Amino acid sequence: MIIFGAGGDLTKRKLIPALFYLCQGGLLPETFAILGLDRLEMDDEAFRDGMADAVKEHVGSAWNEATWRKLCHHLHYMQGNIKEEATYMAVCERLSRLDAERGTEGNYLFYLAVPPSLFPDITRHLGAVGLTAESEDDWRRVIIEKPFGNDVESAKALNGMLHETLDEDQIYRIDHYLGKETVQNIMVFRFANGFIEPFWNRQHIDHVQITVAESVGVEHRGEYYEQAGALRDMIPNHLLVLLGFLAMEPPNSFESGAVRDEINKVLDAIHPLTPEQVLTHAVRGQYGEGVMPTGERVPAYRSSPGVSPTSGRETYAALKLTMDNWRWAGVPFYLRTGKRLAAQYTEIVIQYKRAPKIMFKNTDIEQMTPDMLVLRIQPNEGIQMSFGAKIPGPRMRVGTVNMDFCYADYFGNAPATGYETLIYDCMNGDATLFKHADTVEKGWEIVESVMDVWNALPARDFPNYAAGTWGPAAAGDLLKNDGRLWRRIKTP
Ligand SMILES: NC(=O)c1ccc[n+]([C@@H]2O[C@H](COP(=O)([O-])OP(=O)(O)OC[C@H]3O[C@@H](n4cnc5c(N)ncnc54)[C@H](OP(=O)(O)O)[C@@H]3O)[C@@H](O)[C@H]2O)c1
Repeated sequence: MIIFGAGGDLTKRKLIPALFYLCQGGLLPETFAILGLDRLEMDDEAFRDGMADAVKEHVGSAWNEATWRKLCHHLHYMQGNIKEEATYMAVCERLSRLDAERGTEGNYLFYLAVPPSLFPDITRHLGAVGLTAESEDDWRRVIIEKPFGNDVESAKALNGMLHETLDEDQIYRIDHYLGKETVQNIMVFRFANGFIEPFWNRQHIDHVQITVAESVGVEHRGEYYEQAGALRDMIPNHLLVLLGFLAMEPPNSFESGAVRDEINKVLDAIHPLTPEQVLTHAVRGQYGEGVMPTGERVPAYRSSPGVSPTSGRETYAALKLTMDNWRWAGVPFYLRTGKRLAAQYTEIVIQYKRAPKIMFKNTDIEQMTPDMLVLRIQPNEGIQMSFGAKIPGPRMRVGTVNMDFCYADYFGNAPATGYETLIYDCMNGDATLFKHADTVEKGWEIVESVMDVWNALPARDFPNYAAGTWGPAAAGDLLKNDGRLWRRIKTP
């Protein structure tokens, strides 16, 4: 595994800790080597020492000296400038030596832990020195991190550039949301349990809510966020990925092509909003200063480093999407995401249609609460089913009760970075949890009409929600106008 950008934040916070956990789980082979490349001059020993510090910091109490010694022995480093051709000749040489020493047999996984502006340099140079050419006996794969473009055109350009040197099946576009057990469990929950699928359609489901709420602000990412905004940063990737797993038809198998085809069909079925619909089906917001539920007073987005004091960039986005297919016709999917909200959590709410209340005529029951299934992606990972139960007593009254499954109760809290499964799958050539070029482009197509209208009509009411609240009032109206409500969770 060759990591470009081995001195960077992602390598220290996620990649090496993930390899540490894989090593701890006995999931790394003996015939394996990690070669880090970055700008700084240092030898293998200095690199190992630096990575030991990073792993200690990020795995906390899971640190284990014996595991580290085992992993450390696989770690190597070389200095090089990613933009220079000579670097790749040196990489070739170093890899040949490692192949001989480690018995790695020419299988290479290149991890591009660098800004996307460097992707073309790396893939073209790797191609030029023959490092992307596969044979019957060895494979060559490349993992890239988002952002995968920032609109349809740039995503197509990025994919076109990658395809100049790589086949689509050599490209692994990572979305760390797919590394979460709870996201992978959506498929298991739906397709490994006979009682779920029969109720997973428009006959039984009233609507779906997908919430990715962040209590943090833009922190040091102000400059990036001014370009991106909540819609671009979150919806085409993380929220649409959740929607894809939630709404897809059962694939013929769990082979990656079959699963990814079904996800693409879901995205194909989503109606991109017309400019008129953007005005009624899309809501944007920007946080002003406010007080978080913890009591902390926090500044407005416009006061963040790297942000214009008159910024029109949204830190909150909500959409109502519908799908043109047999299973989901007429079922709205409400998506929302934002920063500096009252809590930090990701969840999916499936709200079922109300039961006919005829049989409770002439009782104290005026209205049945709708049944609800909540898939808690993070934190407090689990699944909750809310339904009506008779309140004990001579009168006929119904209360809402919960059946609650918590991952931690059954499986403990195995420490993880979220990258373990993804790296492991890539090594094994399983692309199910990675994004296909088409998925990326379709994601951008869905949000592009919203971006166009928002760009053409700058928001006049920003900031329109206070930090520490649930977002702009208009987001509540998006559901209220349809006679629905966002599910509220308790704030700390
Ligand atoms: N950090 C995260 O948690 C995270 C999460 C999700 C996605 N990502 C994505 O992962 C990628 C990497 O992010 P990051 O946060 O790790 O970035 P980073 O901290 O800036 O790391 C990039 C590394 O590459 C090195 N580098 C840059 N240009 C180089 C060159 N020409 N030759 C050799 N080395 C060079 C940098 O060295 P210098 O510092 O000397 O420039 C730095 O050590 C980005 O695409 C980002 O969007 C990161």
